Amino acid sequence: MSEEKFSPDAITFDPSQVPKHVGVVMDGNGRWAAQRGLPRVMGHYEGSKVVDTVVRAAKEFGVSYLSLYTFSSENWKRPRNEILGIFGIVKHMLKKKTETIHAENGRFRFAGRLHELPPDLLDAMHEAEEHTARNTGIQLILCINYGGRQEILDAVNSHLAKLAKGENAGPLTEEAIRGNCYLPDVPDPDLLVRTSGELRMSNFWLWQGAYSEYYFTPKLWPDIGRADLADAIKSYIERERRYGNVRA
Ligand code: IPE
Ligand code: IPE
Ligand code: MG
Repeated sequence: MSEEKFSPDAITFDPSQVPKHVGVVMDGNGRWAAQRGLPRVMGHYEGSKVVDTVVRAAKEFGVSYLSLYTFSSENWKRPRNEILGIFGIVKHMLKKKTETIHAENGRFRFAGRLHELPPDLLDAMHEAEEHTARNTGIQLILCINYGGRQEILDAVNSHLAKLAKGENAGPLTEEAIRGNCYLPDVPDPDLLVRTSGELRMSNFWLWQGAYSEYYFTPKLWPDIGRADLADAIKSYIERERRYGNVRA
């Protein structure tokens, strides 16, 4: 267990500079387990414990939305026992943590093709979402059975379905696509973090991440702590976001 959990140094950021929405590709659980001769699912279990630390840190630093890439549309390619292991861990985590998140005014939300998930997991997700729906603190978004390409496709198809039904949905514009994404009210991620040294996004927030700032760390997800999130935020604050414009 890391010492920082017990002796946290004060880390404060100017609230106006902190990224409102931080997205994280929590990668490296399998390698963490392999390094210890453990089954991959043990890496996922260890990784689920880090979620706690990172949520607490995000809250402390003033992040309003924390989205965690939990299971990608492409992760169905993995062995069945690993997939079931991940779903079991997510369900366990939700059952254990919903009350704590609720007590801290946090809100659970989910993004992805949720209807394809097993019913027992879906029940736990609905329970977590409903129970925390009226809270106004940090929003913890689990992207599960999520893929950016699939989300864009689903958004376009939702729009087309409205038109086919004769609804006055208007032309297919950028705003229409964004408005039909899984969580239309959640702002685009300002900062996207990936752990484990892989330099790619693997289908995470493709539409919303068009102008996100990227931060990569070689550390594996189960080794991540409060200080790593602080480093990512520091790096973000030092950058200038130009959105195609010239230097201000
Ligand atoms: C990320 O860790 C968690 C999920 C994809 C569910 P990995 O399982 O991808 O870990 P590595 O990349 O094999 O180390
Ligand atoms: C991305 O990690 C998905 C999640 C972290 C949930 P992967 O490990 O699945 O991505 P690739 O296969 O290395 O691109
Ligand atoms: Mg991986």
